[in-house]
Amino acid sequence: MKPICLEDGKVILIDQTLLPSELRYIECRDVECLARAIEELKVRGAPALGLAGAFGLALAAMGSKRMSKKGVLMDLEAAYDRLKRTRPTAVNLQWAMDRVLAAARTSDDPAKAALDEALRIYREDIEMNKALEKVGAELIKDGDVILTHCNAGSLATSGYGTAQGIIKEAFRQGRRISVFAGETRPLLQGARLTAFEMVRAGVPVTVITDSMAGFVMRNRGVTKVLVGADRIALNGDVANKIGTYGLAVLAKEHKIPFYVAAPTSTIDPAASSGSDIPIEYRKRGEIEFFNEKRVVPREADVLNPAFDITPASYIAGIVTEKGVLLPPLDRSIKGCIG
Ligand code: MRU
Repeated sequence: MKPICLEDGKVILIDQTLLPSELRYIECRDVECLARAIEELKVRGAPALGLAGAFGLALAAMGSKRMSKKGVLMDLEAAYDRLKRTRPTAVNLQWAMDRVLAAARTSDDPAKAALDEALRIYREDIEMNKALEKVGAELIKDGDVILTHCNAGSLATSGYGTAQGIIKEAFRQGRRISVFAGETRPLLQGARLTAFEMVRAGVPVTVITDSMAGFVMRNRGVTKVLVGADRIALNGDVANKIGTYGLAVLAKEHKIPFYVAAPTSTIDPAASSGSDIPIEYRKRGEIEFFNEKRVVPREADVLNPAFDITPASYIAGIVTEKGVLLPPLDRSIKGCIG
C-alpha cells in the first residue's frame, strides 16, 4: 500500500478516515488542502506526517510564482508555518520540513532543491522501514501473542510500517504469531487501520476495546507489547497514541516486555525528556459523538489528549533501522544518534 506519494505536481493520499469500508485516494494540489487533510487525520502516523510535510513544501515550491530565490523561500516559509500548526506531537513533520527548507536555502534553485529533498526523504523512509522490519522481526518468536495499539503499519509510513511492519515481516518469515489490536479510542486507528492491515497480510488478529488490555494480558497469553512512536526524547521517554502509557504499566505488572518501534527520525534531539514533548489536544466532538450520535451529555466536560508519554523505565527496547536500543536508553540513544 502506498498511503502517500507525490506525482505529477500533486500529493496523492489514501483518505484513512474512510477505511476499512472504502479505499479512496484523494489529491492535494496546494498546501491548504494538505494541511486540512492532516488536521482531519486523512493522513496520519508520524513517518507519514513527515512525508506530508516534505511533500507540502515541495508543492509550495513548485507552485510558487515568485521569480527570486528570496520570494520562493518566503512561500516555503509560509507553507512551513501552516503545516507545522497542524499537529504538534509527531516530530517527523517538523524534522522533514526542516530538511526541505535547509536544502532550499542552500541552493541556487530552491524549488528544485525542495522537490529533490522531499523525494529523498520518501526514499529514505522506505529503506528505513525495510531495515527496521528486519531488525524487529528477529525479536519475534514462534508462538508470540503480540498486543499492539493504534496504527504504526504501512498506512502510518511510506508504505511498510514500524510496529506492525515488524509483525508482518515476522509472519512472512514463517513465525506462527497472533495479534491483539487495541481499538484506539476515540478515532479507532487500531480497529479500523491495524486490523485492516493485519487481515490483508493474513496475520490472525483480534480487536479488543482499549479497556480489555489488562484482561487479555492476564488471561490470553500475551507475550509482547509492541507499539510505534510519535516522538522519542533523549532519555528514552516515548510519546505515542493515548493509551500507550497505560499498556506499559500493565505490561510491567504482568512481566510482559514492552517494545517500541520507530525510525531514528522520530528521536528528537531537542527533547531531553518526555516533559519537553508537546501533547496535541483534539476537539471534544471526537469523544462526545459516536457514529454521529451524542454519547456524552452536553453539560459534561471532555478531555481529549491524543498522545501520552511512556517513561523510559517501562521500555524493554526501541527497535530502529540501526538496531534495537536497549536500556539504559539514554546511553543507547546517544550512541545511536551521536
Ligand atoms: O494520531 P495518529 O493516528 O497520527 O497517531 C499515530 C500514533 O500514535 C501511532 O501509534 C504510531 O505509533 C506513531 S506512527 C508510526
